[in-house]
Amino acid sequence: PSAKPSAADLLAWYDRHRRVLPWRAAPGEARDPYRIWLSEVMLQQTTVAAVGPRYARFLQRFPTVDALAAADWAEVAEEWAGLGYYARARNLHACAKAVAASGGFPCNTDGLAALPGIGPYTAAAVGAIAFDAPVVPVDGNVERVMARIHAVQAPLPGSKPMLAAHAASCMEDPVARARPGDFAQALFDLGATVCTPRNPACALCPWREGCAARRAGIQAELPRKSPK
Ligand code: ADE
Repeated sequence: PSAKPSAADLLAWYDRHRRVLPWRAAPGEARDPYRIWLSEVMLQQTTVAAVGPRYARFLQRFPTVDALAAADWAEVAEEWAGLGYYARARNLHACAKAVAASGGFPCNTDGLAALPGIGPYTAAAVGAIAFDAPVVPVDGNVERVMARIHAVQAPLPGSKPMLAAHAASCMEDPVARARPGDFAQALFDLGATVCTPRNPACALCPWREGCAARRAGIQAELPRKSPK
């Protein structure tokens, strides 16, 4: 790895170590925005391990956005049982109806963000992963990675705008811009498997040489959090 965190190093690591996940298209395989959107909504409240079986079951029952849009609310609610927050399932159903009525998912983040129940995170995640929109979705994993790489000492949640700005600046690198969906998922994987909240596995990190927190020996202390 080089002395500066580069998209080339992260993507090379991802190409070797990417997790096989049910919603993840194989390299070169077509990406279905419906499947990606569904996975992102489920992952907002449920762990990767718990989403797996529920995701497969949901797709068996509602294989397309049109099938979901045409379903009765009672069916959707039944299939969502145990996944928490019915408001989210309500939004999911409303969003499916809007998408079906307009003939498919919008392919840019502005169009996605205008859909019912789709916030900035989901718009960025679906935009990047399904359509290679040049954006970086920022979840807790990405915030942690950015806080460490740039040794951001300011605590969450006040540091959120700064961490988002660091994430967005990744897309200035043409190597990242060529593969925004893989770049986003590489950051998710890095945060989940290497740059973990406790005991980060820095020896395995493709960005270890350029990580400012590691250089200062404070990687496990970041991101800091404001006392409640
Ligand atoms: N967390 C949120 N979205 C994810 C994704 N697409 N892959 C892995 N973890 C995630």
